Amino acid sequence: MPSLISVRSVTKIYEAVKGQKILALEGVSLDVNQGEFVTLVGPSGCGKSTLLRVIAGLLPATSGELHIDGKRISGPLTDVGMVFQTPVLMPWLSVLANMLLPIEILKLNMEDYRKEALELIQVLGLESFENAYPFELSGGMQSRVAIGRALIHNPKLLLMDEPFGSLDAFTRESMGMELLRIWEKYRKTVIFVTHDISEAVFLGDTVAVLTARPGRLSQVMHIDLERPRTMATKSSSAFADYTYQIRKELGLK
Ligand SMILES: Nc1ncnc2c1ncn2[C@@H]1O[C@H](COP(=O)(O)OP(=O)(O)O)[C@@H](O)[C@H]1O
Ligand SMILES: [Mg+2]
Repeated sequence: MPSLISVRSVTKIYEAVKGQKILALEGVSLDVNQGEFVTLVGPSGCGKSTLLRVIAGLLPATSGELHIDGKRISGPLTDVGMVFQTPVLMPWLSVLANMLLPIEILKLNMEDYRKEALELIQVLGLESFENAYPFELSGGMQSRVAIGRALIHNPKLLLMDEPFGSLDAFTRESMGMELLRIWEKYRKTVIFVTHDISEAVFLGDTVAVLTARPGRLSQVMHIDLERPRTMATKSSSAFADYTYQIRKELGLK
């Protein structure tokens, strides 16, 4: 089966001020299958966000080729949902209106998607908060709205850039479980960026390890842990082996 996303020898050089060049990614190749949950892990500044933005078509690669569904990526993808480190909700819009924002931006029929939004609100555990405003929500709830907004137009692909990065450790852990529950239901193809090795192993079918700058893919590891993953997964010896291998790969002692 051909992969949904194919990244071939992608290099990205930023031209910074004063003509200084920053090699952010070097020769990155990665294949992502339909329905696969790929986590991208690496130290801060190694080019994770850069790679995600290049895949989203928001940033051109300096060299290399990217395809989605066999078509070359040459501009911003529309069949994609994105979630960022901070939920970036519109403070003057309700939960429901925030979720429906992409429908407005993509000029789709609002009435067609209201039902979807209300269903997503249920799935995300936000029932009875549809008319609340972002300031009335906890950090975890705001993250749920951001995930709902990314899923509202039923995109094929979900790109998540450290989506739980601004949450406390406790909420972050429970949001990881939540995300897997949602993923089991919708089976989107996901690329999830994190600098947290445990989170990467816990969530992913595949963990792609990026080394410190210039970001090179040093390892693509298949995670053969049973699903659905639970709290017990994290205390298994297989889980510990995977995280240890990745720590070693990244040169952590
Ligand atoms: N717009 C930009 N202009 C110049 N350099 C950038 C720009 N964006 C990111 N960089 C640099 O590219 C490298 C990779 O950045 P980034 O992709 O944000 O890493 P990560 O998400 O892994 O922390 C870093 O050294 C960063 O400083
Ligand atoms: Mg980043």
